[in-house]
Amino acid sequence: MLDKLLELRDVGKVFPGGIVGLDAINLTIGQGEFLSLLGPSGCGKTTTLRVIAGFEAPTSGAVVLDGRDITALRPHHRPVNTVFQDYALFPHMNVRDNVEFGLAIRKMPAAERRKKVMSALEMVGLPDKAEARIAELSGGQRQRIALARAIVCEPRLLLLDEPLSALDAHLREQMQLELKRLQGELGTTFVMVTHDQTEAMSISDRIVVMNRGHIEQVASPAELYDRPASRFVASFIGTMNLMPATVTSVAEGQVFLDAAGWSLAVPAPEGSVPVAGQPVTIGIRPEDLLLAGGNGEQFLSGKASAVVFHGKSLRLRVEAGPAVALFVDVPRQGDHAAVKAGTPVSLALRPGASCPLLAA
Ligand SMILES: Nc1ncnc2c1ncn2[C@@H]1O[C@H](COP(=O)(O)OP(=O)(O)OP(=O)(O)O)[C@@H](O)[C@H]1O
Ligand SMILES: [Mg+2]
Repeated sequence: MLDKLLELRDVGKVFPGGIVGLDAINLTIGQGEFLSLLGPSGCGKTTTLRVIAGFEAPTSGAVVLDGRDITALRPHHRPVNTVFQDYALFPHMNVRDNVEFGLAIRKMPAAERRKKVMSALEMVGLPDKAEARIAELSGGQRQRIALARAIVCEPRLLLLDEPLSALDAHLREQMQLELKRLQGELGTTFVMVTHDQTEAMSISDRIVVMNRGHIEQVASPAELYDRPASRFVASFIGTMNLMPATVTSVAEGQVFLDAAGWSLAVPAPEGSVPVAGQPVTIGIRPEDLLLAGGNGEQFLSGKASAVVFHGKSLRLRVEAGPAVALFVDVPRQGDHAAVKAGTPVSLALRPGASCPLLAA
């Protein structure tokens, strides 16, 4: 475990009019970590960031940095910088003056300021743009200047609110890699807000999944994908088929289930293992379902009702009973190419698939 940098302890925020922005959240952020806050619109991501930065005072709870309560500390006294969604660059200043701004108000000697500005511009790959006017820069360049302006002050914690949302898909992907590289080189803790799960998955060490002002789960991208802790996380991250099922028995590290007449066995979850007779919801990823040939008990029979082209794979929608519809990803090669809407299919679970068992 990394050293603790920041803790939110039971932080709540109720806005005037009684709107709950945050509902007593607890979160520990490690030193040097790249953490993302992910969740649907209005779930409290920006509010969390603003509370950390000090722009918003929590109505309950405490913000603790290095073990010290900083809840009442003004934003500019915190070792925290923010990159805003709209970059908030000063249009009447050139690039150098924009980046230097934070250092100038700290009354740093001019020669030292100059050196720091140039090194920040080099970090973001734009050392030759020091004299450029903001209006002459592209969206991606503005984004980098906003980053340079934030990192030049050498914050302990850098907060980024949807930093890439104004960029087109291609540039966005490139900037994701650059953000990750920059964070690695600086060793600074980054907390990024995004509502793009692919973005969060590709660059974060850990992701905080939020919903309606509370935290659903904090975990690494792989853990969130393989072991979602709730139905919300299961259906929010990637595509997940959710099927009602009943536990028939538990033995030798496996849970045996009946789902719509289909007999399944999945590895027993760590922690609380369900008992025979218990109703659960089983989560099955589309890539963990295979098209099988047999008619044995272990197969679920159905009929393809739609075939969607997904590039390297095809996504089938399979109707397997009156209320059972499952997404299945199959490679485009071989027999699969012949599957069309209306084709009868048999589904099997990929051996070793780690299907989460969720509350019924
Ligand atoms: N200043 C405010 N006054 C009243 N309610 C607010 C205020 N700021 C935020 N809220 C409410 O608090 C909740 C959380 O808002 P927040 O801006 O943190 O969401 P978000 O997760 O950043 O959403 P988005 O993805 O749309 O940016 C929302 O219901 C929002 O309407
Ligand atoms: Mg927001």
